Amino acid sequence: MMPSTFSNPAHVAIIMDGNGRWGTDRGFDRSAGHAAGAEAVRTVVEASVAAGIGTLSLYAFSADNWQRPAGEVGGLMELFRRYLETEPVRLRDQGIRLTVIGRRDRLPFPLQAAIRLAERSTATGRQLHLRLAIDYSARATIVAAASRWGNRPLDAERFRRLLGEADRGGMVPPVDLLIRTGGERRLSDFLLWESAYAELWFTDRHWPDFGAADLAEALADYRRRDRRYGGLTAEPRAAAERAR
Ligand code: FPP
Repeated sequence: MMPSTFSNPAHVAIIMDGNGRWGTDRGFDRSAGHAAGAEAVRTVVEASVAAGIGTLSLYAFSADNWQRPAGEVGGLMELFRRYLETEPVRLRDQGIRLTVIGRRDRLPFPLQAAIRLAERSTATGRQLHLRLAIDYSARATIVAAASRWGNRPLDAERFRRLLGEADRGGMVPPVDLLIRTGGERRLSDFLLWESAYAELWFTDRHWPDFGAADLAEALADYRRRDRRYGGLTAEPRAAAERAR
């Protein structure tokens, strides 16, 4: 069958799983895996710019991850803060706009401040919109968006705008390709609305080992997919977007 999609996805979402196992498999602790995971983030962000992806959403910390031991949570918060304090210079040079989605009020204050600064200093980037999900829950975002609207009549397009407001970074295109590393095959409350017609791609590779070649493999597989959006024939993307 002819593939319907010849171009790369506009929006890629990644559930970055397997850091902990990467660390312990090597005789280190789990936080070594998270630190290595931060390096993989740099690599994949650069590769995404090169591939012409417009929006990249990375799941860094779910609302359910607070259940982990305090030491691991604290280490992750530190890692995020360091990334957000050091990375914006490099992001700006590459034309990348960074926004953070998820709740902020439960994050340590220095991290909240780092987020605000990083968002401000990369606000003009147009090559890639990088969205980091921290203390994120798709269901909580959907509830927040719905409650902003009250009782007025609502349609899908308006709701998409509300989700953008709830996420603060503005409206984003639907997720075209959702990648999960680390061998599990579930969505774990990530971008549930946005991924309604996402193509799913799973790999057993742990996130710190995921590199440009893996992204290229996922993109090549995506381009071979026959996206029908519930119809019978492979339609050009524009027609499919209209139907949503
Ligand atoms: C899942 O692996 C990963 C996380 C909960 C943390 C994600 C964080 C990073 C990728 C590193 C830092 C990111 C930035 C943006 C600086 P896991 O710990 O659940 O691994 P496991 O399934 O092997 O236990």
